[in-house]
Amino acid sequence: MTNEKLNIGIILGSTRQGRVSPQVGEWLKGIADQRGDANYEIVDISDFQLPFLGTTDGTEPGIAAWNKKLFSLDGFVFIVQEYNHSITGALKNALDYAREAWNNKAAGIVSYGGTGGARAAEHLRGICAELLIADVKVHPTLSLFTDFENFKTFKPAAIHLKNVNLMLDQVLAWSGALKTLRK
Ligand SMILES: Cc1cc2nc3c(=O)[nH]c(=O)nc-3n(C[C@H](O)[C@H](O)[C@H](O)COP(=O)(O)O)c2cc1C
Repeated sequence: MTNEKLNIGIILGSTRQGRVSPQVGEWLKGIADQRGDANYEIVDISDFQLPFLGTTDGTEPGIAAWNKKLFSLDGFVFIVQEYNHSITGALKNALDYAREAWNNKAAGIVSYGGTGGARAAEHLRGICAELLIADVKVHPTLSLFTDFENFKTFKPAAIHLKNVNLMLDQVLAWSGALKTLRK
């Protein structure tokens, strides 16, 4: 084992115009960077312009780039928003586009919605099991009613800070442990 820092991707799960996920991702990265215990980066699904799975010949450069990016990461924090009681189609499509690149890595979930995005997060946990992603227990849930102004401007309550740090503690512990399985 080396003392190299782990690489943790903060994956923005929404791609729609007007989305709030970049605000949530930047907030999380700010907290994470202050810890100085890993290399944290925002990974925006929309940058990869993934086609809908199976509708092309699969040679689009974004598909290979998406897998390459995931392979470079040791763990993830999913920024999850609730769409019709589940995750977004964009996140599901992005999850479906890789397999080994997800395997034997850890993930935390930060979700938001009318009920904190809890239903979407639980759906994601089922998908994580299939992709051999070890999703940690601590799960910060953000309310569209109290952590956003007019459902648009992110103003998180201070209470979330403790949970975010606990979640990151767990992601780092499991990401480090699982790295040994991938050698
Ligand atoms: C298609 C669609 C379905 C939604 N369904 C739900 C829902 O079932 N439960 C919920 O709490 N919020 C729901 N919302 C509200 C979203 O959680 C809210 O708009 C949030 O800001 C979306 O994240 P984004 O801005 O990053 O795209 C829905 C929004 C959209 C666009």
